[in-house]
Amino acid sequence: MTVRVGVIGAGRIGKVHAETVTYRIPEARVVAVADIVEEAARRVAEQLHIPQATRDYREILADPNVDAVLVCSSTDTHATIITEAAEAGKHIFAEKPIDLSLARIDQVLAAVEKAGVKFQVGFNRRFDPTFARVRHAIQSGEIGEVHLLHIISRDPAPPPIEYVKVSGGIFMDMMIHDFDMARFLVGAEVEEVYTRAAVRVDPAIGEAGDVDTAVVMLTFGNGVIATIDNSRRAVYGYDQRVEVLGSKGGITVGNVFPNEVTICTAEHVRRDLPLNFFMDRYTESYEREIRAFIDAIVHDKPVPVGAADGRAPVLMALAARKSLDEHRPVKISEVG
Ligand SMILES: NC(=O)c1ccc[n+]([C@@H]2O[C@H](COP(=O)([O-])OP(=O)(O)OC[C@H]3O[C@@H](n4cnc5c(N)ncnc54)[C@H](O)[C@@H]3O)[C@@H](O)[C@H]2O)c1
Repeated sequence: MTVRVGVIGAGRIGKVHAETVTYRIPEARVVAVADIVEEAARRVAEQLHIPQATRDYREILADPNVDAVLVCSSTDTHATIITEAAEAGKHIFAEKPIDLSLARIDQVLAAVEKAGVKFQVGFNRRFDPTFARVRHAIQSGEIGEVHLLHIISRDPAPPPIEYVKVSGGIFMDMMIHDFDMARFLVGAEVEEVYTRAAVRVDPAIGEAGDVDTAVVMLTFGNGVIATIDNSRRAVYGYDQRVEVLGSKGGITVGNVFPNEVTICTAEHVRRDLPLNFFMDRYTESYEREIRAFIDAIVHDKPVPVGAADGRAPVLMALAARKSLDEHRPVKISEVG
């Protein structure tokens, strides 16, 4: 069986997923791509020899020759498109977050459940071999009982301000990956969130009602304490590190570099900068997550990152923003 895929949204991540399906997944084929900017859809279609490009995603949903869609459009469009795709009986892979409102998310998830289609959320970092190994070490008890987790997650540069305005803000857009990673690694749910954050990178981000620099402290139900540190700008590139401390040991994950060369001179010992951004650092994870989605369809298996995993980090993001606004620790139960 070849799964026939429609890609909705031909921006940064839509292009990554369209390329992945085209070049790396023999069990699937992209048959159509949609973007409200028709030129963007047409460009991707031409590059990847996709037969159909349209500005109206509903054409893809109405096409009986499409089995599944990848929802890669701007965040504020996800809820509507996912709901309509479910009603059209398409299997759905949706980028994060599902929506910014919990009530809306619950409506979307009800529509998906009613339709009985596969629904996977794009938390790709779970599929990164390094972070999958960290989870295995924690879950198999290699470092004993986990006490502390630190996640450092910094982008090389902020996205365009137009993106920021519809993104839901740093907690929903960026830290949501780290909230998911924290749940994934610890294997438990967070009970309380405490935020300190500011605008330190670009005043325009502040004018859009957002922050660009944040530290969030998480307290898990099983006692683990975690911190997540986000910045929209680390001048040396994409900074993605993790440290775990347990009763029998620790785990350290460093950045990934384009080469392993160290250059020593009379003045310096130095190396090249880490891989610059998500398209390079997480290439393998994107392939593995889309492969898992296609595999779930072909073999009628559960998807590895489903509705509950899409919902939980949104609660954490809502609590983080509330904590910032109200200058106090916020329980997850207050926002859910
Ligand atoms: N998992 C990840 O690593 C990752 C990385 C980047 C972005 N994302 C998520 O993917 C989504 C897109 O982000 P991006 O960085 O690709 O943004 P982007 O702005 O580069 O692309 C979004 C595209 O969607 C199109 N679009 C908007 N409304 C549409 C509609 N109604 N129908 C069809 N197309 C529409 C826009 O014209 C644009 O081309 C966001 O929700 C973001 O949170 C996830």
